[in-house]
This record gives sequence, C-alpha cells and structure tokens, in this order.
Amino acid sequence: MDIKKIVAEMTLEEKAGLCSGADFWHTKAVERLGVEPITMSDGPHGLRRQEEAGDHLGMGGSVPAVCFPAGCATAASFDEALVYELGQELGKECRAEGVNVLLGPAVNIKRSPLCGRNFEYYSEDPYLASRMAAAYIKGVQSRGVGTSLKHFLANNQEHRRMSGSSEMDERTLREIYLAAFEEAVKEGRPWTVMCSYNRINGTYAAQNRKFLTDVLRNEWGFDGFVVSDWGAVNDRPADLEAGLDLEMPSSFGHNDARIVEAVKAGRLSEKTLDQAVERILGVARKCREAERTEPYDKEAAHRLARRMAGECMVLLKNEGVLPLSKNRKTAFIGEFAAHPRYQGGGSSHINAFQTESAWELADKTCVTYAKGCSIKEDKTDEALLKEAVLAAKEAETAVVFAGLPDSYESEGYDRVHMRLPENQNELIRAVCEANPNTVVVLHNGSPVEMPWADQVKGILEAYLGGQAVGGAVLDVLYGEVNPSGHLAETFPLKLEDNPSYLYYRGEGDTVEYREGIFVGYRYYDKKKMDVLFPFGHGLSYTDFAFSNLKISAERIRDTDVLTVSVDIKNTGSRSGKAVAQLYVAPPQGEIIRPVRELKGFEKVELEAGESRTARFTLSGRAFSFYDTAAGRFRAPSGRYGIEIGLSSRDIRQQCQVELEESETPHTRVGMDTIFLDILRRPAAVPMVREMVAKMDVADAGNGESMGEGTTEMLEALLGYMPLHALVSFSGGKIGFDDIEEFIEKLNGSGIF
Ligand code: BGC
Repeated sequence: MDIKKIVAEMTLEEKAGLCSGADFWHTKAVERLGVEPITMSDGPHGLRRQEEAGDHLGMGGSVPAVCFPAGCATAASFDEALVYELGQELGKECRAEGVNVLLGPAVNIKRSPLCGRNFEYYSEDPYLASRMAAAYIKGVQSRGVGTSLKHFLANNQEHRRMSGSSEMDERTLREIYLAAFEEAVKEGRPWTVMCSYNRINGTYAAQNRKFLTDVLRNEWGFDGFVVSDWGAVNDRPADLEAGLDLEMPSSFGHNDARIVEAVKAGRLSEKTLDQAVERILGVARKCREAERTEPYDKEAAHRLARRMAGECMVLLKNEGVLPLSKNRKTAFIGEFAAHPRYQGGGSSHINAFQTESAWELADKTCVTYAKGCSIKEDKTDEALLKEAVLAAKEAETAVVFAGLPDSYESEGYDRVHMRLPENQNELIRAVCEANPNTVVVLHNGSPVEMPWADQVKGILEAYLGGQAVGGAVLDVLYGEVNPSGHLAETFPLKLEDNPSYLYYRGEGDTVEYREGIFVGYRYYDKKKMDVLFPFGHGLSYTDFAFSNLKISAERIRDTDVLTVSVDIKNTGSRSGKAVAQLYVAPPQGEIIRPVRELKGFEKVELEAGESRTARFTLSGRAFSFYDTAAGRFRAPSGRYGIEIGLSSRDIRQQCQVELEESETPHTRVGMDTIFLDILRRPAAVPMVREMVAKMDVADAGNGESMGEGTTEMLEALLGYMPLHALVSFSGGKIGFDDIEEFIEKLNGSGIF
C-alpha cells in the first residue's frame, strides 16, 4: 500500500470523507483505491463488538465476549507481565471478531474517588497508570491489533464531561495528567490516541494544538492517528488543524462538507488534510498486514480471567481469619455472593458469555448462603437481616459480600458520596455482632468508606474483577491463590479528606484542579494524614523481609542512570508474590514537592524461604519536577531518598543518593533580584561581600562589618532585599550606577 500515491489519487471529497467514520464503528472504504475500512470496538477490559446499530453508552446489544477484570483491578496487580498477557488475549479475541482497533486502555488519573469511570481507569499515580497502559498496548498490538489510548486529556470526571474545562497549571499537567499518557505513548506506541470530550484550560481537547500536536507528536513522537471520543468534535476544520485526524462516529457528511469548504476557501491547508489522511491510511495498512481472523477459545479465556482476577485482588485486612479452611462452616452473606458485580456501566460494558459466582461454586456441604439485603434499593428488609444474622451465628466464619450497586458507578455520571448503601453497612454490623469472625469481600470500582473496618477481621477488595470473579474470590478466600494485589489508589477515611474534595465537579463548566500536583498519596503523605488504607497497600498470606538495598553510585548526575537492587525473602511458610515498590523522596527545599513518588515496582514470586533480588533503574526523570519557567523537567541538585517498601506507608529499606544537576536554568540578575537568590550560588558570595563592604555598615552584635559576616548572617540581614533597595539602605553610599555595575558583573560571571 503506497500511501503517498493513494493520497495523490484521492479527490478532496474522498480525503475529507476518510477523516470521519462511515458509521458507528468503521472508517470509510475507498474501494477504487483498495482502501479498506478500519473496524473499531470498545474496550478496555473486553470486547463490545456491536453487529447492529451502535451506541456509545453500552445500552445496545453486543456480541457475547469475555469480560476480564476492569482497570481498577488490573492496576492493583502491579504486574506488567499480567497486563501484557491480558492485552495479548484481548488482541486474540479482536482477531477472532474482525476488530482492528480496540478502544483502550483508559488511563485517566483518579483525581477523586467519585469519578463515575474510575473503575475503568488505573490509578491516582501517573507512573503506575502509564506503565500499565504501556504493557496493555504492547500486549494487544503484539497480535496485530491496534489500541486507542484514551481519554486524552484531563478527563477526570463525568459531570459535564462534554463541556467542562479542566483548569490547571502547567506543572500539574506535566507531572500528573500528561504523565499518565507519556510513557504509554513513548513506550507502548499505540496506533491511535483518543482525545477526550472536555476542554483543558478553556480549549476543547479536540481543538487543542498544544496537546494533540506539540506535546503528543512533537515531544513524544506519536505517529498514529488521533481519533475523537465519540461525538467530541466541535469545529471540524479547527480540530483537524489542531491535530485531530479522525472524527468518530459518522457525522453523516456534514463535517466532511465543512472540511471541503474550508480547504476551498483557503481556511484550511490541503496539506493538513493530507497529513491526517496519511495517518489514517498508515493504521489501515497495519490492519491489513494482520490476518483477518483467528480461532478463539473462550473457555480457556474464562479460566484466564479467573486467574487474572485472583492476581488483582487486594487483601486489605486479615486478623488471622484468612485463608479459610475447606471444611470450616462458613456463611456467605449478601447478594453479591450469588450475583457478583463484576463490571461497570457504559461503553465498556461487556456482554459476558459466561459468569460465575462464589456461591454457585462453593462447597455446599459446609457453606450456607443468606441474601441479607437488597442490592437494588437501599432499604433494610428485617426478615432478610434476621436470616443473615442466624446464618452468621450458625457458622464459624461469616463472609459478607458487599459493594456498590450497578447504579452507583457508571460512565456518564459521578458518584455523589463515597459510602456503601446504608442497608449493607447495617448488614455488616449486624453480622459482626453475631459472629466475631467476619470477613467482608468488596465489589466496587472505586474506594468506599468503611465505618465497620475496625469490627471485621478481614477485608478482601475484589474490585470489579470480570466474569470469573466469583471463582477467583473462592481461590483467594480458601488460599488456593495467595493474594498479591496492592492498592493503586488511596482509600481515604472519608470523602472530605480527598484533596480534590473542595473543587471537584467545579462551578458550571469550570473545574479548577486547585490541589495541583497533590493528588492521592502525594497529598495525604505531605499532610501526614491518617488514611483507611494507603496507596500500595496489600497483604499476603506469607511474609516478606527486605535487605541489602544497594545503589550503583552514591553520587550521580542527572544524566546518569542509577541502578537500585534489594533482596526480598519470603519468610513465611507458603509461596507468594511480593510487590516491591520504589519511591523517590525528593529534597524538601525551595521547590514544593511531594514527600515521595512511585518510580519503580517489581512483582516477585517467591517460594517459602526463597530470596531474590529485585532491580530497578532510575533515570534523571525519576528525580525531576517540571520547571514551568524553564519549560522542562529538571532534577535540582540535592540529596534524594530511595525508599523500598510494601506500600507508600510501609517503607522497609531506604538510602540516599546525592544528585548533581548538570544544567541549571539560566537566570538574569536585575534590579528586582533579591539577595537570597544571589547568595544561594556560593560562587557569587564573595562578590556580594565586596559590594556590601562598600556600605560600611557595622553589625550591631559583634562590631564586624557586614561584608565579613557569615553567609547565613548575610542571608538573614539582606536575604529578601532587592538590589535596588541598596540605594536607600546604604545611606546613599551606593548609587544606581554601582548597582548596575554589580549586576553586569554578576551576569557576566557565568554563575547565573
Ligand atoms: C466513551 C469512550 C468510548 C466511546 C465509544 C465514548 O462515550 O467515552 O470511552 O470508547 O464512547 O463507545
């Protein structure tokens, strides 16, 4: 397929036409030139292929498929290999169904627990989110199927999602919201990126040249096509100009006509249009290189979905109650035991070809079941409650299956609080009273408040674990699988603790991200706040010990790569997987920075008694913040902590590395520069002394002249004074000419 040749042969109308969908899920064909349509389908944790009329809300029917654990769960695996495998599997299924591009992964940052789509997203941490997304993309694309990394950019709430403007400073964008996409683009190399509905600092994502072209293509090297979220196009020619190549779904010729008009009127260059066409054809060519179909074994995929769900679950609390022994008399309580909630609502909703519940698969000789309460309406049913209490009393252990009902979590709207339905809280309390050995299994896509957390003996976060979650819950409860998931998000004690709480949803269409870079644990750690469960937390049925933390050098430059290694030993009596998390703790100096930031993780499988070494590499970026004035990431010189732990609040090993910045941004000294900013450069101190000596001011304390005092003393006396103030403070001994001369000397010194 000679793309340049095809473009040259296409008419203006054909080119404009290729830049929008033929229908809901396909691009257009240009038969006379052999251009075939591209078939797209949702995504992300399964395939929602629609044969008949399409819809983007997941309401219409779709072909039966395998529903894998949602993003909230897969991120908790902290396992790139697992997510790669999931990607491969999804790619295989796409091939079987003739889908060329799968619409995922969804990588938006979990700014608030309330976002209706958090269940699809990975994390509150951009590093983790981006690593997971890169693994997913590589997995899917290894099967010759494309991905669409979405929703670019700053689409962190559903409320007013098609009109709201996410307003934030450049540093926050770069360190948090863009960073979630950055590695995914650079390393994953997705065939397509989907731009979001919302605006960013006033400009629609679809029309945002800065992000679609300057950052995505020019800085990060993206070479696929950008597709609109379904219906996100606002002003077609302007969007095209900004870098939005493909409009989806069809606009029934209306926007194609606008493109043609704009080109004819000279408002849009035909070159811009050609470029978009070339990008779309580039992906079309890749699609054709892959064979159309491949047989797909859904039963095997179901087994895989079960294994994956088990790997993702997070054991939040365990006071010796888990794992359960097989012949222990146990009561399963709560409707989710019989009908687990395993996915969220909206465009990601899969028509699961098969499901399984924990109750259905349980050994009925020792497990009983009581519904406990309704999961449809938040009302206590005294008869059901009584029955549950009785079941709990008669059992040695009670396992309450709780969680959020379908209507609480969906694309299209946000939650309004972070609580479970009150009838479920009441059920848990009543069961706890009846049986001291109570465990809660949770099915939810985002954190919930747990007012009963102290009363129960165990809590297993099963998330929305896909169609095989029921079996996977049994695997973990009974210890067939040793839990190894860790939280990819903080569970705050209450919603009001969340850093975005005051500004979430915004006023009208203006949503100010006033917490800035302090999202999730970056905020809770800086504020030293108590949380219910910290970022990275997750228990195991075995124990791990860390030792022998080593770094490849004690002093590095920001251009070096630091390697870090640590030994992990399974000190318990059964095999298990540890997630070693590496946090960098930047210096808490002039630059306002988080206490620690995740910069590496490694999941390590260990037999009882076995030891292994986990290794990490850190480049300068791992130590950096985004310096808006300099327009780049930089790692200022200083001592940085390297922390290894099992959660952001369970640091087991730490050391420090001295980093030297190779290129500090140039500044110019002027009349308004304050002495502190000059004295911070040791090489400039003698020049300052010389200058202030001219003032001939004796220090009141020891009679020394100011020029002879310590640097600290100079800082204390002059620190906040701008140079121009010397004129009045020197009693007329220093004039403006002297200061100008001094400024020239400093600027010419090469120190600044
Ligand atoms: C969603 C996307 C989805 C698309 C197609 C949109 O409403 O935001 O995530 O891929 O519909 O269904």
